[in-house]
Amino acid sequence: MAHVHCLLPYIFIHVIFAHGRSTQKVLLVSMDGFRWDYTNKWATPNFDKMAEYGTKAPFINNTFITKTFPSHYSVATGLYEESHGIVGNVMYDPELNETFRIGNFDPKWWNGGEPIWVTARKAGLRSATFFWPGSEAEVRGIRPIYYKTYDKSVLFKDRIKTVTNWLKSDIDIAVMYFHEPDATGHRFGPDAEETRAKVIEMDKVLGDLMDKLEDEGLWDNVNLIVTSDHGMTEVDFRNKVVDISTVVDLTAEIERTVDAGPIMQIVPFPDMRTNVYNNLKTLDNVDVYLKEDIPDFWHYRNNQRIMPILVVAQEGWSIVTNATQASVIPNRGNHGYDNRLMSMKPIFYARGPNIRRNFTATPFISVDVYEMICSILKIEPAPNNGSLARVQQFLIGENDALKSDGMRNNFAYLRSDVSAITVLVFMSFVVFA
Ligand SMILES: *[C@@H]1O[C@H](CO)[C@@H](O)[C@H](O)[C@H]1NC(C)=O
Ligand SMILES: *[C@@H]1O[C@H](CO)[C@@H](O)[C@H](O)[C@H]1NC(C)=O
Ligand SMILES: *[C@@H]1O[C@H](CO)[C@@H](O)[C@H](O)[C@H]1NC(C)=O
Ligand SMILES: *[C@@H]1O[C@H](CO)[C@@H](O)[C@H](O)[C@H]1NC(C)=O
Ligand SMILES: *[C@@H]1O[C@H](CO)[C@@H](O)[C@H](O)[C@H]1NC(C)=O
Ligand SMILES: [Zn+2]
Repeated sequence: MAHVHCLLPYIFIHVIFAHGRSTQKVLLVSMDGFRWDYTNKWATPNFDKMAEYGTKAPFINNTFITKTFPSHYSVATGLYEESHGIVGNVMYDPELNETFRIGNFDPKWWNGGEPIWVTARKAGLRSATFFWPGSEAEVRGIRPIYYKTYDKSVLFKDRIKTVTNWLKSDIDIAVMYFHEPDATGHRFGPDAEETRAKVIEMDKVLGDLMDKLEDEGLWDNVNLIVTSDHGMTEVDFRNKVVDISTVVDLTAEIERTVDAGPIMQIVPFPDMRTNVYNNLKTLDNVDVYLKEDIPDFWHYRNNQRIMPILVVAQEGWSIVTNATQASVIPNRGNHGYDNRLMSMKPIFYARGPNIRRNFTATPFISVDVYEMICSILKIEPAPNNGSLARVQQFLIGENDALKSDGMRNNFAYLRSDVSAITVLVFMSFVVFA
């Protein structure tokens, strides 16, 4: 009987460990400009695999304006753009009397939101970022444990290697950013052969990442989320431009214009507002709003960095101040338009121990991702505009384990429970009979 007594503690320990594991990790990845339907248009076997082993949304909704910095900061903070304050890749703050451009990491621009890597650190977890708009800023006095100064020449495979090493050691949440297929989409347009080739390359990048997580044995506790900031649509700077200088006097009536392309913000001289507005209203292929009339559904009004007049182009059109200058821009793709347009919508895929398998989610909103990550990490979210209810459909908590349909790991635990109980019953019989 001696050997039976030796087995008992082992069995108990095994069962307790199977249930005691609770520290789940998250890897949040963005592939810039990855339009929701690229994986439908072109063969992307690694995205298909991720969907089969995890959850895919046909698309998700992003925030307005559909530009890189604002959209990414909404994913990271769970806030609409008017609330986190990064309202453009270019913006003007009248109180600061300063213009923001990409590459500015002065905290005064970023402190309006609390990104997930800051929330995690406040909760005592360890976060790390390998590029993400805002990740180089010290936000509310906190930085990730590791972060990198943006350098797009860092090879994608080196980013993957570093990030998986972080997760293998003691990092709880990592974020990683790739600037493709956005760059190629801008140059050639969303339907081009070059863009197809780049999407297929990014599918291989995803394959490499999943293989690395597999090789390192990380799938038991890493939840991988792959999303993007916006889509892409065809533009034509020769034939589809709206030149505001044809209806307003750029020097006599306007103090400044901010941004250009899919949207333009305009600061008229104080006594010129109505005049400028009325003249802009005569332009075709754009919608013009006084700040106070910007529609609620964009959640893009309540911030001093949004200017008195907002002009939004119809899909494919570009707003400029000099059509001659614009006509030489060779780009065939752009984004920034109305977030209700299908062409502007991002992808969403997730896979890991807390994610339902082989599941298609009902579309939700990019601001929900922050709540989702906080829920997986079991940390308190900062005030935000996301909804856990909208993403609960594919989240698996520890208590839901037996309810879910396709969970390899939890079924393994169940099996170990059953076998442990069987052995215990059997041994009771042997020992006490
Ligand atoms: C804003 O800054 C500019 C220089 O960048 C300066 O010429 C202008 O006077 C400033 N305006 C105010 C209101 O301070
Ligand atoms: C528009 O740009 C062209 C080409 O750069 C330039 O020659 C022209 O003077 C500009 N027009 C105005 C009104 O500034
Ligand atoms: C997403 O946007 C579409 C319009 O493009 C809208 O019909 C739908 O209700 C939105 N979904 C959510 C969850 O907001
Ligand atoms: C996913 O579901 C499809 C059909 O719904 C099924 O054929 C396939 O085997 C499932 N894959 C996994 C990994 O469960
Ligand atoms: C978004 O969340 C912020 C922070 O809680 C809040 O101040 C703001 O009113 C919210 N916006 C909407 C539209 O609910
Ligand atoms: Zn982008």
